[in-house]
This record gives sequence, C-alpha cells and structure tokens, in this order.
Amino acid sequence: MMTAQLIDGKLISAQIKEEAAKEAAQIKAKGVNPCLVVVLVGNDSASQVYVNNKKKACEAVGIRSVSYELGADTTEEELLHLVAQLNADEAVHGILVQMPLPMQINEEKVILAIDAKKDVDCFHPMNVGLLHTGGNGFLPCTPAGIIELIKRSGHTIQGQNCVIIGRSNIVGKPVAMLLMQENGTVTICHSKTRNLAEVCLGADIIVSATGKVNTVTADMVKAGAVVIDVGMNRNEAGKLCGDVDFDKVKEIAGAITPVPGGVGPMTIAMLMKNCLVAAKMQNN
Ligand code: GUN
Repeated sequence: MMTAQLIDGKLISAQIKEEAAKEAAQIKAKGVNPCLVVVLVGNDSASQVYVNNKKKACEAVGIRSVSYELGADTTEEELLHLVAQLNADEAVHGILVQMPLPMQINEEKVILAIDAKKDVDCFHPMNVGLLHTGGNGFLPCTPAGIIELIKRSGHTIQGQNCVIIGRSNIVGKPVAMLLMQENGTVTICHSKTRNLAEVCLGADIIVSATGKVNTVTADMVKAGAVVIDVGMNRNEAGKLCGDVDFDKVKEIAGAITPVPGGVGPMTIAMLMKNCLVAAKMQNN
C-alpha cells in the first residue's frame, strides 16, 4: 500500500521566511524599516501563543514588531482609539488585532477601523473586495499559505477539482477565491451540504476548514488526492489534531498536510510577506 507524500509546512514556511528576510533587507537598504504592530486583548491562551509566534517570526525576518497587550476589560472605545493612533503613525506599516476579541468589543467595527493599507490580515472589506475583483496587494494569510503549500510541494491547481469544506470569512471563502484565480474548479461545501462524501470523492484537492474532528474520513478521499487540513482541534484524549482522519486518509491520499506542522506555520510566513507589501505600499 502506498502512503501519501507528507507536505511539510514547517520546511516550506521556513523557505518563505528566508525569501522575506532577503526582501526585508532590500527594503531597509532604501531607508524604510518595516514594522508590524500586534494587538492582543484579554488572555486567551491560544491567542497568546499565536501572538508570540508572530513576534518571533518578525524577529527572524527582520521586521520590527511592537505589541500591545490590553486587559480583558478593555472597552471598544479604548481599542478603537489605539487603532486610530496606529493608523496615524507613519512608522507603523501593519496592524494586526488578534481575534477573537472579548465580547464587549464588536470585531467587525474594529476591522473596519483599521486603515486598509495597514490591514495585513486582509480582513478589511476593502481588501476582501479587492481580492474578489482580481486582487492587488494583500493576500489573506491562511488561504495564501494553502496555495503555497500545494504549489511548492509540486502539485498543480489549474483544471483540478478543488473541494473546500467550510465557508468561513477567514478560510473557506477566501481560499475558494484564490483556488479559482489559480484556475481550479471550485466547490464549497458546508454543514448543510448533502452527500458530502460523494462530492469529496470527485476532488483532486480537498481543503478542510471546519474545526471538527473526522470531517474527512478515508471513504471520502479519491486515491491520489491532495488533502489540506486547516483544522486545529483537540480529540477526546486532548491531543492536537486536524479535521482529517490522518492515519487512515494518508493511506489513500497522494499528499497530505500534518497537524501540527502543516498549514499553521504557513499563516505566519504569509503574514510576514504582507508586512513587506504594506511597507512598500506606504513608501512609493
Ligand atoms: N485568530 C486566529 N487566526 C487569526 C489571524 O490570522 N489573524 C488574526 N488577527 N486573528 C486570528
């Protein structure tokens, strides 16, 4: 029995960060010091880990990072005030407000308040709209990371049947747009989709982003398919796992991403690229 190619997100993200480091050096040689501000509100433990990883990546690439860690009782007004201050600060090129936010703060309002030119998450409706009309500038980090994983591990997207499971604003919808721009034939499935297994069996590429363990099982995967797992879940034993039944699916798929070490590291690598896009955009 054949076992799938393991798509190594750690390795590919390291390559992208190396490329970004070279580009950061070129930008600095022109007198611009790329700078990302990360804002964390409250004490969500997963968010703290993500924010630390973002800071470490900035350091490795040569991007200045500044972080604000605000209390869980921060008001919406206080956060909007900080965002306005960062928007006005010419030394700040990228602003990232870590989600989720405490419930007294309206996330949509905060995203709208961030200057679209500094929106390195690509969450602002202006950037989401630009993405849909062909795009220029920022790419959504996790979706762009998925495209890089597929291409850099030697797979083509053009003409392939791509099935996405999940329709979130952060992953499902934007990854559909990017796969379509790469000339894939895209189907988006979700919790109300009938015959999910049947739809998936027609896929050359499956992207699962539901946040549910065992969303993709071996009976849903065509022999040789590329399987990208965006899930970050805990199973009953408390172990970190993705959406895909990895041990069984890897015996059928042609290529598969592990969790951890697949999509996760790519999100941060693509964020670094967006920070450089922002620094260039604001200096020409
Ligand atoms: N929370 C989980 N993922 C992300 C992300 O990519 N960006 C932000 N801002 N918050 C997140």
